This record gives sequence, structure tokens and C-alpha cells, in this order.
Amino acid sequence: MIPDIVRTRSAIRTIVAKWKAAGETVAIVPTMGALHQGHLSLVKAAREQCDRVIVTIFINPKQFNNPEDLENYPRTEKADAQKLAPYNCDLVYVPDGAQMYPEGFASTVLVEGITDCLCGSHRPGHFDGVSTVVAKLFLQTQADFAFFGEKDFQQLQVVRTMARDLDIPISVIGCPTIRESDGLVMSSRNLLLSETARKIAPALGREMQAVIKGLAQGKPFQKLQKMAISNLEVAGFNAVEYLELRASNDLSLLDTPSQEGRLFAAARLEGVRLIDNLAVPARP
Ligand code: PAF
Repeated sequence: MIPDIVRTRSAIRTIVAKWKAAGETVAIVPTMGALHQGHLSLVKAAREQCDRVIVTIFINPKQFNNPEDLENYPRTEKADAQKLAPYNCDLVYVPDGAQMYPEGFASTVLVEGITDCLCGSHRPGHFDGVSTVVAKLFLQTQADFAFFGEKDFQQLQVVRTMARDLDIPISVIGCPTIRESDGLVMSSRNLLLSETARKIAPALGREMQAVIKGLAQGKPFQKLQKMAISNLEVAGFNAVEYLELRASNDLSLLDTPSQEGRLFAAARLEGVRLIDNLAVPARP
């Protein structure tokens, strides 16, 4: 069944209060719409673990650095609600700008430290926007569980830190990245790639796999990193913003996989920003 759409804070609060009074657990899956299999896998995980599932759709202006990027972001509300039909989602919460940021709105949630690197340093203010909107969604829905993809691994860690530091009583669950058959990470931004760029895009993940293979063979990271960046530029990526090895827990920079790590990359292809990250096992 196509889930109902709820558009106001007061309506969502009333519905959730009734569910909770009946002893039901409530999950949210925060999204900006343009739903794909990655989002749907989060809905499925939420469905398996909770009694009630809310998908939120809000294209959050505060997390975009570039007005053009915000303008071009796909808006597909009707199709999104239809895609949710087979997943037994209870409702879709679609607040508008006035619900989220009413006139006079003056607060920002800022998570320090972990936001200084990777996407945080390339997209100033991005994670302030994410933390602010996600804190609001947590508080507005009063959900018990929130499901996020590991595709945005830094976002997942930022949200975990924010919920912990602000004592928001919610469990943040990370779910594995979902990929297309050629390895490209599923992302709403893939819709913005031309046919040619779409064919080039999986090179990002392939080069990252090659780095991880090299690390497992004991090759030095800097050499592998240089080679991967050069290969990506030859393949047609305009700018590799970063390709870095970091610790999974606190995102501190590593130059060898001395502990459990992740390889993170962001690169632009025809102006579309693609990101990926992969687990890197610790090598004694
Ligand atoms: O990952 C996203 O789609 C967004 O950053 C989120 C978590 C929905 C906040 O706007």
C-alpha cells in the first residue's frame, strides 16, 4: 500500500504518541527523497527491527554549499511514495521549509572534530546543516531507532556523536552500502550523470579496491594513493577531492592500516560529486 504522507510537526507527533502509548517501537529513515535501492534497504532493515517505520523526505537547504546543487537535486515525491508501497512503511513525513525552519529560526547544531576532515573540509557548513536537520527530525518524530547508510560513513559518525552528546534517546543504526551491479555506490546524484559519465563512474570504486589490495600486499599507502588518483584523472574524473585512509572509529588519518580503517574517496565527474568508502582490515 502507498503510505500516507504527513506534512506537519504536530501531525507526526500525535501519530507517534499513539504508537508509543500502544508500546510500539518507532524507526525513522531520514532521506532527501529520490529514493533508490540503498534507501529501500534501510526501510527493509527498519521494518525488520521495529513496529513502525517512518521515512522522512526533506531536501535540506542548510546542507548544500552550492545553490545550483540544491536547485538540481531531484524532487520525486510521488514516485518515492509509490516505491515505498511494497515495504510496508507506515508513513512518509514530508515537512516543508516553514515546518523545519520557521521565521526567526536561529539555531545550529555543530559537531566538532570529526567534521573537520573529508566532506567536512571540502563542504564548509555541510555537517552543521546535516546535524541540525537530523536533530530536528529526531526530536520531531521522537523515534526510537534511526537507520542510515554506511555510504555516508562520516555522516553516520557525525549523527551518532550528535545524538550521544545531546542525550537524544535514539539508537542510530548503520547499514551496509548498496551498489549497482558494476560496483557504483547507489546515490540520488547518479541520476545527474550523463550516459558517458555513468560508464566512467565505477572506476572510483575499482581504484579504491586496488588500493585495498595493495595495502593487503604490504605496499605503501602513499604510492597506492598517487597511482589511484592518477588513474581516476586519466579515466575522466575532473577533480579527486580526497582519497584517504582513516581510522573507522574517530576518522583520524592513517598511513598504514595499523587498526581497523576505511578508505574514503570523493571525486567530481562532469561536476557531479561522487563519494565512496570501503572497510580496510587492520594489518598487523
Ligand atoms: O543522507 C541524506 O540524505 C541527508 O544528509 C539526511 C541524513 C537525510 C539529512 O538531510
